[in-house]
Amino acid sequence: MKPTQVLMVCLGNICRSPTAQGIFEDRVRCLGLSQFILVDSAGTSGWHIGSPPDSRSCKAALRRGYDLSQQRGRQVSVQDFHDFDYVLAMDGQNLQALKALCPEGFAGHLGLFLEFSRKQTYLEVPDPYHGGSDGFELVLDLIEEAADGLLADILAKRPEVHAQAGPAI
Ligand code: 4NP
Repeated sequence: MKPTQVLMVCLGNICRSPTAQGIFEDRVRCLGLSQFILVDSAGTSGWHIGSPPDSRSCKAALRRGYDLSQQRGRQVSVQDFHDFDYVLAMDGQNLQALKALCPEGFAGHLGLFLEFSRKQTYLEVPDPYHGGSDGFELVLDLIEEAADGLLADILAKRPEVHAQAGPAI
């Protein structure tokens, strides 16, 4: 069974998209679906290639049980549109950058990650990099909500994957 591949994208790939990767991977793992749904993240900039996620993101995520420590920054590339089924931007600026990179004929889903949130109080995940700790908590809140919606979307489109899901641990 071909896995569904999800790429989370922000600017630096050290705050929002690693958090989105970590949370979504955790949801997928809890359902026993790690071999059917693969998750990665990247930045539209190349500023933090090879770097671990921001220590503030790591600490905030770990307090909620998500370990981001093994992730390393990388920059998004045209090849990603051949490899991934969902390319999800954390905000409109990064979505514009992705649209400029997207090859014609991309058959996957390119859009804002928070479109999958059921609450939709925010459509963008605000950049927490230059702000205080509240910003990192908001990032976690928004991403947790959208992760559930994204999972539901994938499972609705792929009943054969849904059938493999165990009860959430
Ligand atoms: P991210 O946050 O896009 O969520 O990873 C940022 C990280 C680094 C910078 C800006 C935003 N920076 O200016 O280096």
